[in-house]
This record gives sequence, structure tokens and C-alpha cells, in this order.
Amino acid sequence: MRLCRAASRLTIVLLLASSLPGAASSQASAIDQRIDDLLSRMTLDEKVGQLVQYSDFSDDRAAAVREGRIGSLLNVTGAENSNRIQRIAIEETRLGIPLLFGLDVIHGYRTIFPIPLATASSWDPELVTTIEAIAAREARASGVHWTFAPMVDIARDPRWGRMIEGAGEDPYLGSVMAAARVRGFQGSDVASPDRIIACLKHYVAYGAPVGGRDYNSVDMSERSLREIYLPPFKAGVAAGAASIMSAFNLLNGVPTTANTFTINRVLRDEWGFDGFIVSDWNSVGELVDHGYAADGRHAARLALNATIDMDMMGGIYAGQLADLVRTNVIPERSLDESVRRVLRAKFMLGLFENPYVDPATEAAVILRDDHVAAARDAARKSMVLLKNDGALLPLSGDVGSIAVIGPLADNGQDLLGAWHALGRAEDVVTVLEGIRRRAAQTTTVTFARGSTVVGPDRDGFAEAVEVARNADVAIVVVGEREGETGEAASRVGLALPGVQQELIEAVHETGTPVVAVIMSGRPLAIPWLAEHVPAILQAWHPGIQGGNALADVLWGDANPSGKLTVSFPRSVGQVPIYYSRDVTGRPRSESKFTSKYLDSPNTPLYPFGHGLSYSTFEYGDLVLSADTIAPDGTLSVSATVTNTGRVAGAEVVQLYIRDLVASVVRPVKELKGFTKIFLEPGQRQTVRFTLGPSELGFYNQDMQRVVEPGTFAVWVSSSSDAGLESSFVVKGN
Ligand code: BGC
Repeated sequence: MRLCRAASRLTIVLLLASSLPGAASSQASAIDQRIDDLLSRMTLDEKVGQLVQYSDFSDDRAAAVREGRIGSLLNVTGAENSNRIQRIAIEETRLGIPLLFGLDVIHGYRTIFPIPLATASSWDPELVTTIEAIAAREARASGVHWTFAPMVDIARDPRWGRMIEGAGEDPYLGSVMAAARVRGFQGSDVASPDRIIACLKHYVAYGAPVGGRDYNSVDMSERSLREIYLPPFKAGVAAGAASIMSAFNLLNGVPTTANTFTINRVLRDEWGFDGFIVSDWNSVGELVDHGYAADGRHAARLALNATIDMDMMGGIYAGQLADLVRTNVIPERSLDESVRRVLRAKFMLGLFENPYVDPATEAAVILRDDHVAAARDAARKSMVLLKNDGALLPLSGDVGSIAVIGPLADNGQDLLGAWHALGRAEDVVTVLEGIRRRAAQTTTVTFARGSTVVGPDRDGFAEAVEVARNADVAIVVVGEREGETGEAASRVGLALPGVQQELIEAVHETGTPVVAVIMSGRPLAIPWLAEHVPAILQAWHPGIQGGNALADVLWGDANPSGKLTVSFPRSVGQVPIYYSRDVTGRPRSESKFTSKYLDSPNTPLYPFGHGLSYSTFEYGDLVLSADTIAPDGTLSVSATVTNTGRVAGAEVVQLYIRDLVASVVRPVKELKGFTKIFLEPGQRQTVRFTLGPSELGFYNQDMQRVVEPGTFAVWVSSSSDAGLESSFVVKGN
């Protein structure tokens, strides 16, 4: 008791100190002293124990915790449960070092938000910060200290199922979102009872496996790494992320979990990252499977040498590290450095002072009303209106009858999306429920499932056609099951699974106007829909408030404002496809020997940045503050956006550039800024961006970041494929 009071006094002193100048360093040095003290009292086995993480809990694990042989557990949840396990570490181990509990809190803990790819489509970093703060509040109250998120892997190949967990294809947007998510999870003080530490993953280039097949190897130039795949990690580190997870993949022949170039040189030396690194699930052990390490002993040595501080589930550190130190293969100070980094996280989280959580707080915060309201808001803002011919949407308030059709229309489980932590199907408002609640009493709402999501089941087609025929509009909800997305869920096809397209075709045949609602974790190739169906809404896997949010959008209570953060291909044969491509010496033309497919346009079906609104926005007055700038100078770019529609709405104004001639050829367009503005009908706003060395620079052939003289094109636009264009010159020195 006395100890607790003393400890909480210490916390107060530290918190007070943190508002003073120089506080961060004095807090750090106070923590360092405590770490030194602890380290001086730890045995070799206890030190190794801090670097060992296992999943779940059992009697065997309890014994290992008691002996100080486990430092962290994943997948332990619930206040009472986690307290019970924590009590063993605090009260029954020699030194009372608390356990660190980690969990994949990817898009909410119990209040499940839309998948991350969806919330990135909001282009709204504040929204993203808000929902991650809610996820953190629920998780921490439930005993979780650490999320394995955000996943900041750039993904340009929708065959890769883990695209759902990231922000899409673009390094600039990915960096903004990475920082926003870190801020949301961690806040300004991770010792707060409503914050958790973040983990940037999967370091690095895990999102670019050959053939889009999960866990497959990656072959990539240092340039692509530095310009495309590393920036979101760098931004997350700059935002203060406390931890990073290494990946499963080989990178240019060297596993990312033992990669001294990407970890020791780039992450530790160049960026100065001093947080701790956890392996991915048994990725230390897999160094042997890769053929990079001869055996577990070798693997442990290679991973620790790359400063992998914690071994997730591999048991390799547990079995090998102590002996490697005893036999002088690994210097004890290397081990100490890793232990130090792990202990620092535990101190930062305040776990020595407050190892337990209060079940009453847990009960009060889980699914709190404002959390659920935020889930609805996030889902509305994440949906992307791909097409809306003839202003079919929004539905009119007095629509007579609606046929709700499709295997995802009355489905809770799949709306949660992959990696839904403690989310439950029973928490989900399905599309059918959302529509029934919103429809006027005079509107008839009928439902037919039509088909299953996967498989050849056409038995329900006749019923679906029947309800469609008798309705004024058909809302057809199709897409992917949650298990078809996420980890180990790569696909070679990108069409709607099963017979869902046939179902839409049959409904379309009735002549009743069709609104296709797609719930998926990746862009699907939907050229038939794009050609025939008047309205298409990409709703992703929208989380527990999906049905309500969808109804908000269908009736125009919420005006859609999402924009794609991944290009939608016409067919799987086009992938990888992304807007920021290089130019070819033979751009597509009518002549034969140009860069094209014989059977498809080069362009995507829907480009990056695309997304319609019920308003219309007109762009004008593109003004540059200078025609010419010095290489280290800046210029401002402004444009005026006017809401020319009849309803209020939000618009994502995007800024792109192209360096026209450079010593390393630059992509046709690169996003360098964006802002989301809200405009009443008739309202106009001038939007201003600044361009300077960090936007205009690139890595030259010597891998130095330079701004080269020459002409730059600049666009301000509502999508990557259109926009107002101007240019300026960077003059030579
Ligand atoms: C995934 C990680 C995840 C870990 C723990 C692994 O299979 O690749 O992203 O954090 O499992 O669940």
C-alpha cells in the first residue's frame, strides 16, 4: 500500500514535470535510472524473459511467468482476466516486473470501426486520430497496453489480402495516416489510463510480395524502398511510435527480421528510433525456414544482432539467448540494450505504478454511446460513391418501395471485417436493419438474400428477382466475406466472389434501378457493374454501425465524401496498378509498338482520389505565389473551390506535382498535399498549400535527397486523373 502511494506520488511528479521545459529528458533520465537499477538486479534468465512473448495463457505459461521467463503476452483481454495474470507477475516473481499485454487492435477493440483502408478513404486524419483514441480507451480499460497497429505497409496489389489494414497505395497519404493513428493510440502520455502504445508494422515492404501472395518474398530497389515503402514508417517514428514489428518477408534476399540494412542502418542509425522492436509471429524461427539461419541458435543471434528486441511466439530467444550470452557469442550488453528498450516501454506506460485495471471502468467504456456514434460517423465518412448516374442517390424520402437484396444485406459478421478484435456480430446494425429504421413508414422494404457470398448457390435468384420487380429501387449488397480479406487471404481473382455478379445481372434485368453497395476489403474488379449499374457505393467492411451509416448515405442525411486511396483495376491482369506510375518511352497510342494491353485500356476503372458527392464542386483560380523558386525555396499554391450543388458537402482537395525532367525519372504524378473542406451550397473557399524541399526533393542516383532545377507541373484537383494545372521553375544555383 505504502509502495503504491509512493509510486503514485512519483507519477504525479513525473506528470507535473512533463509540462515543464526539458521535462521529457528529465522524465527519460528518471526512467533510465530505474532501468539501470532493475538491470543490475536481474539474472541472465530474467533478462531473457523480458524479451519473450507468448500468446494466450495456460498453466504452463503461469509457471513461466512466475519464474520471470515471460515479459509479454498477446491475446490476453478483459480487466479481470488480465489483472489475474498480471498479479502473478507483480506478486509472485522475484522482481515484480509487470507483464506487457499486446493485442491486434486494428480498427477498434469492441466498438468496431470500418477497416483501416476504409477510414483512410475519409482523407480525414482527425477522424482517424479520434477513432484510434476510442480504440485505445476501450483496450486499456480492458487490460491491453499495446496494439499491433497501425499497419503502415503501402499496398499496390489488391490480390494481397492485407491491403485492408493499411492506408492504400500512396506514401504521402500513408504517412499522414500513420502519424494520425499513432497520435490517436498514444496521445501525449501513454501512462494515461486511456492510452496504449502503438506498433508500426510490418517493417518493411511486406505489402509488396511477388504475385500478391502473402508471406512471399519482395524484391525491391533501395529507391522504391526509400521513396514509397519507408516514408509511412518514418512518419510514424516521428510521431513517437513506441514500437515497431518486423515482417515475415525476405527483402532482396535478406529476411526483414534480421535485416541490418533496414533496421540497424535506416531505422536505428538514420532515424534514431530508440523504441523496441518485436518480431512478427515466429518470424525469428522462420529465419531457419527461409534458409538464412542454420538453426534456432543461429536465428537468435541474427535477430538480436538486428536489434529485434522481442521474440513473438517463436520461443527461440527463450531457448537460445541465455546460452549465447554465457558462451560469449552475444555480448551481455547487447542483451541489456534490448531489455532496456522493453523495460522503458513498461515504465512509460506506468505499469510499475499501475499494473492493474478497474473492471468498473472497463464496463463503463466498452461500447459507450459516444464510441458507437463515432463508429457511425467514421463509416459514413469512409464510404466512396463511385458512380451515381442520373442522381439515383440520394433516395427520396417518399420512395414507395425498396428491395434490399444480397448475401451481405442482413449479415452482421462480415460487416465487422477482418481483425475485429473483440467485435461481435450481435453488435452490428446490418444493412437491412439500418434501411428499415430509416425508411419512412409509408415505404415498403422487402428483402431477399439472393445468393451466398461464395459458392454457386443460385436458389435464391428467383425470389430476388421477384422482390426487385415489385420495388421502385433495388439496393444490392454484395462483396467479400471478412475471411476472404486480411492475413493469409490473397486471391488471384478480383471479381465479386461466387455468383454475386450474376445476381446483380438478374436484378438489373428486371428494369428496376439498381444501387450496388460493395462491402469488401480490397478494390474488386467490377467493369460490368461500372457499365450497367447506375449507382455504386463502395462501403468497405464498415463495422458495427455499417447499416445505420449506409442508410445515412443512401438518404442523403450524410453526403458521401470518401475518396479512393487505391486505384480500382478493370481486371486482375492490370495489377499492380497505381496512379503514381513512371512514364514509358512509348506511351500508349494507336500505333502498335506502344505500352499497352491488347485487351484492356491502361487506365484504372476508378482512379486514386476519385469519389463523388451529392454536391458538385467547381475548381478555379489556381494561383502560384511565384513562377520561379530557388532549390531551397518554397512557394504557395492556392485554388478556389465552390460548392455548386444544392446540398452542403465535404470535398477533399488534392495537390499533385511532377518534376518534368530529372536525373532519375519522376512519376507522372505525386500527391504532396490534401485538405478536406466543408462547404454550404454556393459557398466558396480558397485552399492554400505550400511546396518546398521536402515535397519537391527525391533521391538522386547516389541516394542523396536533392531538389533539381527544372520545370515542375502542379495540379489542384478532386482526383488523381483531373484538375487545374500550372507549372513553375526551380532555378539552378
Ligand atoms: C501478423 C501480425 C499480428 C500478429 C499477432 C501475425 O500473424 O502478421 O500482423 O500482429 O500475427 O497477432
